[in-house]
Amino acid sequence: MKKTIKDYEYQGKRVILRCDLNVPIENGIITDNTRIKESLETINYLIDNNAKVIILSHLGKIKTEEDKKDNTLYPVYLELKKILDTNVYFSEETSGKSLEDKISNLKEGEVLIIENTRYEDIEGKKESSCDETLSTYWASLGDVYINDAYGTSHRSHASNVGISKLLPNGIGFLMEKETTKLDEIMNENTHPFIVIMGGKKISDKTLVIENLIDKCDKILIGGGMCFTFLKSMDINIGSSIVDDDNIEFCKKILNEYKDKIILPVDIVTSNNEIKNINNISKNDVGYDIGPKTIELFTKILKEAKRVVINGPMGVFEKEGFSKGTDAIYKCIKENNIKTLVGGGDSAASVNLLGYKDAFFHISTGGGATLEYLSGKSLPGIDIIEDK
Ligand code: 3PG
Repeated sequence: MKKTIKDYEYQGKRVILRCDLNVPIENGIITDNTRIKESLETINYLIDNNAKVIILSHLGKIKTEEDKKDNTLYPVYLELKKILDTNVYFSEETSGKSLEDKISNLKEGEVLIIENTRYEDIEGKKESSCDETLSTYWASLGDVYINDAYGTSHRSHASNVGISKLLPNGIGFLMEKETTKLDEIMNENTHPFIVIMGGKKISDKTLVIENLIDKCDKILIGGGMCFTFLKSMDINIGSSIVDDDNIEFCKKILNEYKDKIILPVDIVTSNNEIKNINNISKNDVGYDIGPKTIELFTKILKEAKRVVINGPMGVFEKEGFSKGTDAIYKCIKENNIKTLVGGGDSAASVNLLGYKDAFFHISTGGGATLEYLSGKSLPGIDIIEDK
């Protein structure tokens, strides 16, 4: 068991809180604030316990000076300032005198948001390479370190692993919730256990398939990634998305587990035509699973005792192509099946299609949940002290 936020006293202490506030922002407007909302329980707990709360987070990726303006945490600061019932400040600097002064002036129960940790990547990738000097500097700004950035726990960066090595530490409420729910659904021994996979890329998911195939009863595959499987069976997929580098992987896994992997029998093309998979023409691009596939998938799903979803069934964000994804979610909701949703696109589809409250858990992690489902350990969590 890892130490948690509840294992420390905070009165007057400077707490470095690592959150994952990497939210989608378009033209300065936050388009989905789920990660901010999910971080509030931990932030408010520290405020209520009179800590001086110093928040670190990354946002996007920073490779050049140019990347900075599109990836500032300033909009996130404005959002937190609106939501939190205390004084909230922002430091444009990620290190140096002005940041240190702001921390010295911070009163109990107040919050300071520090600019994107990855601004430190411009010179020498200090954040992303877990630079020791940067980790030591950030650690020197606090007395206790709480890591609530579940979405970043697959990274070994200065702001998570680096600081954890140097300060008394624990996990926050979100991190605790995410890991407890994932462990619960993966470790209980109820069957049928069905995995639903979709989304564009198969390359991210080969390890997940390899790790889950022996644990689950069936994997239902839709989304863009199904076309690589179909092509590996010499089915003409027209102009649909394909990852030729993974054809051999698909052949191998289908060969070994042909009864476990269930592929679409029909698709909806970008022209809104329903095509049997043996009837796809050269210019067709698959955008969704078809009605016969919905029937096939939901028939299997209805029997399920637990489900893990990783990736949508089609291009759900485009009007007219969310039917497959919607039908799967509807079936889960109607049959009250214990379901965990992981991965950025899946969570977005659940929110967009209005199924937010229908599931056992919707993970805020993309890459982190993929790594977890691949059976890998998460360095951001591993490094936290045991109780
Ligand atoms: C995510 O969105 O998956 C996390 O915030 C991690 O972001 P990263 O892939 O840029 O490290």
